Amino acid sequence: MNIPKITIHETLSLPKLGIGTWEMGGRQNPDKSEDNKFIRAIQFALENGIRLIDTAEMYGNGHTEELVAKAIKTYEREQLLITSKVSGDHLAYQDLIKAAHNSLKRLETAYLDLYLLHWPNPDVPVEETMKAINELLEQGLIKHFGLSNFSAAQTAEVLKWTDAPIITNQLEYNLFTRNNGRITEDVEASIIPFCHSKDISITAWRPVLKGATNPLQQPLINQIAAKHEATPMQIALAWLLNKPLTLAIPKMTSEKHILENIEAAGIELDEQEMKLLDEIAD
Ligand SMILES: NC(=O)c1ccc[n+]([C@@H]2O[C@H](COP(=O)([O-])OP(=O)(O)OC[C@H]3O[C@@H](n4cnc5c(N)ncnc54)[C@H](OP(=O)(O)O)[C@@H]3O)[C@@H](O)[C@H]2O)c1
Repeated sequence: MNIPKITIHETLSLPKLGIGTWEMGGRQNPDKSEDNKFIRAIQFALENGIRLIDTAEMYGNGHTEELVAKAIKTYEREQLLITSKVSGDHLAYQDLIKAAHNSLKRLETAYLDLYLLHWPNPDVPVEETMKAINELLEQGLIKHFGLSNFSAAQTAEVLKWTDAPIITNQLEYNLFTRNNGRITEDVEASIIPFCHSKDISITAWRPVLKGATNPLQQPLINQIAAKHEATPMQIALAWLLNKPLTLAIPKMTSEKHILENIEAAGIELDEQEMKLLDEIAD
């Protein structure tokens, strides 16, 4: 199935659905016990049309990037969109340059399609961070850059220090987490409207509620799901993907989930369904 795409800042075309990799290969430390399972999961996603892979230097303390490298070996690099993130602890100039080179090395690639600041760091001047990002862009080591877990005010500050477009702000956002994320507040009330006014897309992290199906057991969701012959989780994901300038990167390991999420990218919700779902959370 062809995954719908959006073009951001008239410069980068991104598929609305990608695969997330948090907890593939460890959390803060490497866990190599299930490497084959995760490599296979990423490959299964690619075989079924996924092109965007989201990872970070922090995942498995670098090991997740190594797994991604193994998974993509047989693919032509230009067919893929690889996003990685520099930790908020590495936003000082030298640290950031070093982190980027380390990610490229672990991913065995000459460039990143998208490089995100994983979280803001108030101890490092944004000017310094952006000097490093601007250099990496000029050198072609990263094709585009973006943010993650940045408030509206923090995003506005970054805009002051670069002529390059901010492609995306990655935020915790799903049917039931709107303004009450663990890292960012006021996502729907403040950050999304600000980002959209600057043509910055939103990439929803934790888009499928970490797999929790209980909150989805509601008559309205069941009704919409039945109409589309979909699962309630597919409707939760489709709600995100039907929003303007919005992408989602579920972590999906099981083949069933991968196929279901790809199918969900093709579900078109009408205006009334979107409105009802918009109103479902507080
Ligand atoms: N920028 C940040 O600060 C930040 C923070 C957290 C996450 N992220 C990124 O966002 C990605 C997604 O977030 P997440 O991993 O925290 O949570 P998530 O994608 O909402 O949830 C992943 C869980 O949901 C299950 N799942 C996937 N599709 C499903 C479906 N259709 N039906 C039922 N269950 C389903 C998965 O199971 P299986 O694996 O068994 O298929 C997995 O257990 C991460 O992997 C990471 O790349 C970014």
